Amino acid sequence: MKAEILRMLRETEGYVSGQEMCNKFGVSRTAVWKVINQLRENGYEIESIQNKGYHLLSVPDVINGIELESIRNTKWAGSETCYFDSLDSTNTKAKELAESGYPSGTFVVAEQQTAGKGRRGRSWVSPRGTDIYMTLMLKPDINPNNASMLTLVSAVAVCNAIRRVAEVQAMIKWPNDVVVNGKKICGILTEMSAQFDYINHIVIGIGINVHNEHFPEEIAETAGSLLLECGRRFHRADLIEGFLEEFERLYDIYLETEDMTGMQKEYDQMLVNRGRQVRVLDPKEPFEGKAMGITKRGELIVDTWESRKLVSSGEVSVRGIYGYV
Ligand code: BTN
Repeated sequence: MKAEILRMLRETEGYVSGQEMCNKFGVSRTAVWKVINQLRENGYEIESIQNKGYHLLSVPDVINGIELESIRNTKWAGSETCYFDSLDSTNTKAKELAESGYPSGTFVVAEQQTAGKGRRGRSWVSPRGTDIYMTLMLKPDINPNNASMLTLVSAVAVCNAIRRVAEVQAMIKWPNDVVVNGKKICGILTEMSAQFDYINHIVIGIGINVHNEHFPEEIAETAGSLLLECGRRFHRADLIEGFLEEFERLYDIYLETEDMTGMQKEYDQMLVNRGRQVRVLDPKEPFEGKAMGITKRGELIVDTWESRKLVSSGEVSVRGIYGYV
């Protein structure tokens, strides 16, 4: 009922009368008043005026289950949301939940990670309360060979969510880093448990640097946060909800072909490397060329002076020749 009362307050421009809430939820005025007080204790500023009712003045930057449920607008993504104050890794927790029978679309979010995982065995800086650490778990009926493209789908979803909420020109550094002003704001780590022809589950883990202002020396050059790049603070729950809504929309498009056909254009328009010289750090043979866009399978098209090459994300990483992008 707490989330529903919060939703009602959010969706009402003026005042919501205590009686209206009692009728809607079939509870007493005292019960409503108790919930209002709990919300106030949680940092929500709620004005109450006799004979008029309650009016929500401001919301705190929290990302707990009540807050997320009160703004949720999705059909299935996040319909089961598990919030934790602290976790080793939201990906690890999401895998555990998948194995213990939680449904596809289960969403895990934490205020802090003590062992946040990045790609290629790296760690992900995950301090308390500043950023977003979230994982969406899926149990899709798709060919395991097509699953890696879900990371690119997620990058488009994050990029759109950031553009919508922060009103900033977020871009994608192929395959799935989201950058603002050339600084990495978001990283995505997708992990899969599968048989030869069957997927048990996929976890898509996303870290967004929202209010972080200090990064370890090794990443200080390349990492950034929305606060540092935009000069203002954000309501993290709006970014999370934006991602879930965008992911649901894009996932339907992905499922039509199980590849990037339906969003190739959208992805290319967000591709920060497009038209730029890149260095492909292929362990066998590094090379340079001009990034042209992606294929339907999500490979990066790179034109070198002698030929066109298609680069798969599993094998290599790509850098701008003058720096990170
Ligand atoms: C990268 O190296 O760019 C990927 C970083 C992914 C970090 C996120 S934070 C939430 C989720 N849980 C983890 O342990 N990692 C991912």
